[in-house]
Amino acid sequence: MELGLQGKIALVTGSSKGIGFAIAEALAREGCKVVLNGRNVADLQSAAARIRKSLPAAAVHTVASDVAAPGGSERAVAETVSRFGAIHVLVNNAGGIGRFGAFAELTDEEWLAVFQLNVLSAVRASRAAIPHMQRQKWGRIINISSESGTQPDALMPHYNASKSALNSLTKSLSKAYGADGILVNTVSPAFIRTPLVEEMLANQAESRGISVDEAERVFVKEFRPNIVFGRAGRPEETAGVVVFLASEQASFITGSNFRVDGGSVASL
Ligand SMILES: NC(=O)c1ccc[n+]([C@@H]2O[C@H](COP(=O)([O-])OP(=O)(O)OC[C@H]3O[C@@H](n4cnc5c(N)ncnc54)[C@H](OP(=O)(O)O)[C@@H]3O)[C@@H](O)[C@H]2O)c1
Repeated sequence: MELGLQGKIALVTGSSKGIGFAIAEALAREGCKVVLNGRNVADLQSAAARIRKSLPAAAVHTVASDVAAPGGSERAVAETVSRFGAIHVLVNNAGGIGRFGAFAELTDEEWLAVFQLNVLSAVRASRAAIPHMQRQKWGRIINISSESGTQPDALMPHYNASKSALNSLTKSLSKAYGADGILVNTVSPAFIRTPLVEEMLANQAESRGISVDEAERVFVKEFRPNIVFGRAGRPEETAGVVVFLASEQASFITGSNFRVDGGSVASL
């Protein structure tokens, strides 16, 4: 299938590791010039080196900025445009859960911090990127949400609500900018084995005296029983959908939410 991504310029926020890295690498493999973003400079450099090693012809740039802070997303967009001359694809991937807690334990500050990272980062990056996309009459914005935005459970209500807000933002932007050739979609993974999840599983493995792989199986059984494969997903399994949505092949798709969740969300 011809994806039409050769030479397109893509910024992926939060892409030194995990799902963001897999997305950036997959876009580079399809010929995109990619900009990696994260806060830790050493991690960014090693991520860029990994892509250059596997794809020697790839054009890769890095921008160290905190997208949860005012100015961080805007700087990532501005540096993308100044380095490569345009921005065609924006993947708002940076996100996190904050404290793994129940409603009564969470403070206003914790709610605000999660919303800054998971929602405001995407608002600011989109606001900065859209004028460039309007000028070229072509753009793709892909927001990385979560199953928790559609099927929230009792824990982490601040995270769940922030991902629901991101889903809503996707729909609003898709309606506001479709006529400008800008397509906006959401991808909602569930339980993907990234460094974040590895750390959580390693802790559980240690406390239960089992292997990390066994801890993964136990977690799925106890907390994600609807995942029909009985395992966590891999970052690459999310990246493929994002690449498709960024491509010319997705030209009639906007305002949608694509689940990459192994069946975890139980509703139709
Ligand atoms: N893993 C899952 O099971 C899962 C499930 C559903 C949804 N998601 C969503 O998928 C996205 C990626 O998750 P992940 O598991 O791949 O995360 P991860 O393994 O923790 O990787 C996070 C990446 O984002 C960067 N980052 C974190 N905070 C940042 C900030 N404030 N500014 C810029 N970069 C930042 C990190 O680098 P630095 O630390 O150096 O900044 C790193 O490159 C998130 O939106 C998450 O909510 C994940």
